Amino acid sequence: MPDKFVTLTPEIYSYVIEHGAREDDVLRRLAEETEKLGDIAIMQIAPEQGAFMHLLVRAIGARRALELGTFTGYSAICVARGLADGGQLVTCDLNGDWTQIARRYFDEAGVADRIDLRLGPALETLRELPDDEPFDFAFIDADKREYPEYYEECLRLLRPGGLIMLDNVLRGGEVLDGANDDPRTLATREVNDRAIADERVDVAMLGVSDGITLALKR
Ligand code: DHB
Ligand code: MG
Repeated sequence: MPDKFVTLTPEIYSYVIEHGAREDDVLRRLAEETEKLGDIAIMQIAPEQGAFMHLLVRAIGARRALELGTFTGYSAICVARGLADGGQLVTCDLNGDWTQIARRYFDEAGVADRIDLRLGPALETLRELPDDEPFDFAFIDADKREYPEYYEECLRLLRPGGLIMLDNVLRGGEVLDGANDDPRTLATREVNDRAIADERVDVAMLGVSDGITLALKR
């Protein structure tokens, strides 16, 4: 059987970006500033993933969104821009330096008034959120060791028909390496195994970026 996927070269990847993501000046400058942070810039989502998130949020008419792992704010801006009128994104991160950058760009993007940024551990933030104000969309991208707990809490907080996106579900291929017992890899395998067997959701895993899973609450 022929391969059903394209192995991306840098040239094909550039083509994808040019034709698949409208990255505006604010996002471009944010990405450039984040690159200057060094190796950790790898945590920033890619432009085509940002475009995809924006589109999904719009497609489901999301008004309330949740994000675990703000970092410097790229994905939060993509999500916030896609929300319906009066919408709100609750996003959380542990790091005050990264989120200072995020706040500046939320202002520049004109979405600061629709983003509720909470500094603190994602699980604490999740457990503070009440059941009676359900979310339409949740992006899971914080501490990989806690992905199974994030998944359960997000399912609790989502309305039926609400969508979860999990980032980094392939961990650069480490999920397949039986010798890899990094707690982050173990937890990612666990959530991947759980989601595909979970009758509470419809699931699609995509080989985009570092692997993303979509789980739609039934
Ligand atoms: C890492 C975390 C991420 O969320 C990501 O998208 C890429 C890398 C990391 O911790 O290395
Ligand atoms: Mg990530």
